Amino acid sequence: MTVLETQELKKYYGSGDTLVKALDGVDLRVENGEFVAIVGTSGSGKSTLLHILGGLDRPTGGSVRVEGKDIFSLKDEELTIFRRRKIGFVFQAYNLVPVLSAYENIILPIQLDGGQVDKDYVGRVIEALGLEQRLNSLPSQLSGGQQQRVAIARALAAKPAIILADEPTGNLDSKTSQDVLSLMKITSQKFAQTMVMITHNEEIAQTADRIVRIEDGRIVAR
Ligand SMILES: Nc1ncnc2c1ncn2[C@@H]1O[C@H](COP(=O)(O)OP(=O)(O)OP(=O)(O)O)[C@@H](O)[C@H]1O
Ligand SMILES: [Mg+2]
Repeated sequence: MTVLETQELKKYYGSGDTLVKALDGVDLRVENGEFVAIVGTSGSGKSTLLHILGGLDRPTGGSVRVEGKDIFSLKDEELTIFRRRKIGFVFQAYNLVPVLSAYENIILPIQLDGGQVDKDYVGRVIEALGLEQRLNSLPSQLSGGQQQRVAIARALAAKPAIILADEPTGNLDSKTSQDVLSLMKITSQKFAQTMVMITHNEEIAQTADRIVRIEDGRIVAR
């Protein structure tokens, strides 16, 4: 089953002399359970693509379908709800709520959506990420790697259609980065969770099911 599909996706910034074609006709398809790495030089359009895939920004042209739904046919409020339900994000900055414990952070999106926490599933996610001993800690009491593992658990817990990650290890040292990236890959497999991840780490990119290479807003290899 196809989880995500873009058609002729375009994002232009500015106009005239300052026109930047950040995305210039991207056709991408991601199948259920796939772990896709997006690579490309700085300024090639990776973050722009990821933001639009997740409905955080609207394209200049083209479409994005998530589970068959054309997400930009939705009004802003509907898109916000759709995003909360269907998309999990993992960013370089962990974006945890500082006054909530690790566990409270993990289940927050489910609660915001008025959903039931699948305790068995969330328990298995926590175990897979090695967070059992840290559940009552506040983000400020956790290391960067632990905070990012909480953010990954939070993204997985809600069982989204797709998890989108933009250089999730940009703030971590190389050993911790390696651990966090392999955990993304391992949990994607273990929970059959579709993931699209931007990374500069060629070694990890090589372990992905597929590498999508982007240059000047276009896909040059997939
Ligand atoms: N809000 C904006 N306004 C104008 N130009 C923008 C905006 N956001 C991005 N761009 C431009 O679009 C292009 C693609 O940017 P993007 O952030 O997607 O690159 P990237 O591949 O994620 O790079 P990096 O690896 O450095 O994170 C760049 O030329 C950038 O300057
Ligand atoms: Mg970027």
